Amino acid sequence: MDNLVRLPEHGADPGLTLPGGTRPKEYPMTTVPIAKTPIQQRRILATTIPGPRSKLLHERKVSAVSAAVGTGLPVYIERAGGGILVDVDGNHLIDFGSGIAVTTVGNSAPRVVAGVQSQVEDFTHTCFMVTPYEEYVEVCERLNALTPGAGEKRSALFNSGAEAVENAIKVARTFTGRPAVIAFDHAYHGRTNLTMALTAKNMPYKQGFGPFASEIYRVPMAYPYRWPTGPDRCADEAFAQFVSFVHTQVGEQNTAAVIIEPIQGEGGFIVPPPGYLRRVAHWCAENGILFIADEIQTGFCRTGDWFACEHEDVVPDLITTAKGIAGGLPLAAVTGRGDVMDSVHGGGLGGTYGGNPVACAAALGAIETMQADDLCGRAREIESLFMPRLRELAEKFDVIGDIRGRGAMLALELVAGDGDSTPNAALTSAVNAHCHSQGLVTLTAGTFGNVLRFLPPLSSGDDLLHEGLDIVAQAFVASS
Ligand SMILES: Cc1ncc(COP(=O)(O)O)c(C=O)c1O
Repeated sequence: MDNLVRLPEHGADPGLTLPGGTRPKEYPMTTVPIAKTPIQQRRILATTIPGPRSKLLHERKVSAVSAAVGTGLPVYIERAGGGILVDVDGNHLIDFGSGIAVTTVGNSAPRVVAGVQSQVEDFTHTCFMVTPYEEYVEVCERLNALTPGAGEKRSALFNSGAEAVENAIKVARTFTGRPAVIAFDHAYHGRTNLTMALTAKNMPYKQGFGPFASEIYRVPMAYPYRWPTGPDRCADEAFAQFVSFVHTQVGEQNTAAVIIEPIQGEGGFIVPPPGYLRRVAHWCAENGILFIADEIQTGFCRTGDWFACEHEDVVPDLITTAKGIAGGLPLAAVTGRGDVMDSVHGGGLGGTYGGNPVACAAALGAIETMQADDLCGRAREIESLFMPRLRELAEKFDVIGDIRGRGAMLALELVAGDGDSTPNAALTSAVNAHCHSQGLVTLTAGTFGNVLRFLPPLSSGDDLLHEGLDIVAQAFVASS
């Protein structure tokens, strides 16, 4: 019993007041084995950021790690949970990044930890393609049940988002017998050769890495804020351009799939106008083209629904997931129509580690947490907490050109201001750096590097979120 600690399911400080101040009722206590004491859910600046121990570690990093692998904020993390990252200097940083939308259930979430610990003791690997195990099957069952659409579905598991996307394309080409794939401006689908071709932005993702995979075509994205004739005409005109482009430059009969992020992630949290996704999906169905929703960043409660395309009542033929699926362990999936997924020859999909049992155990713990703690509801609460504060900020600072996103996936697009919507990457970097210096981990995004994005863990308490937003507000004052 020594290492059994009663702690809230959020892994937060038992004294912390969470949404509505009624956490004991809303978030029942649970007993889980944990190795370390719970993490105080408050910001603590013990040193300047980064502190001396982080600086020493960073010197080692520079000597040992390829310079091509960057770090946004070189503070070295020792522990994390709730909404806090604890660094090696004892600083408690507020996390508005979730390791890029991964730790949706919080870091070291109790059910994830319990599942991983138990699985590691049982066995760590057999390779599902050699001798299978129940955890893989169970994750696929859960995915088939949770993803949109009532029909029969199948899933296959992989290690990373890029690998899931690659495999979704393999499936789509096999099923349709067609080569072409349509992707969008501002898209991000990964860094492998095929997914680099699907990704829009050159620096840093593609520069010098070509030649890229063929038969990938790019169409304009329905980007309301930057639509030339204004946001009201965006849905109709973007859809017309999309249809015309595919018809005239690719040919519907040559097109296997259209792949789209229901809310674009790295491209700048671009939310297509209402109805746009539905029209694209419907048009795909009419033309025998598969509609692939890349929900790698948007999936698993992040946007206030299990999957962002539910907001538009869109049922994709294939859906790619990763990131939030397993509470921080590497796991990814392709889920889709049974006839489509089963069209590939036996042995055509797989990989040594895909659906590793430890990652599967983590996913089952993460999914259980999302269901038991209603994390979709929590994401919507976070949106309600953030939005008025972001609007207040935009009233004060005209360099905030757009506020967008859904649930706990929200962003500010920064511009020159005074009616000029020229992207303002310099200000975005300055605001981001100021937040970092004050112990708030924020991320930037966007094709033009001018989007400040917020992806807090859904285990963050309201107090922390408000404190983080106070820091963002101060950052605008300090940087303007
Ligand atoms: C929408 C989307 N697709 C694919 C990927 C690639 O995932 P991974 O980095 O796990 O390969 C990402 C990663 O940010 C993403 O946001």
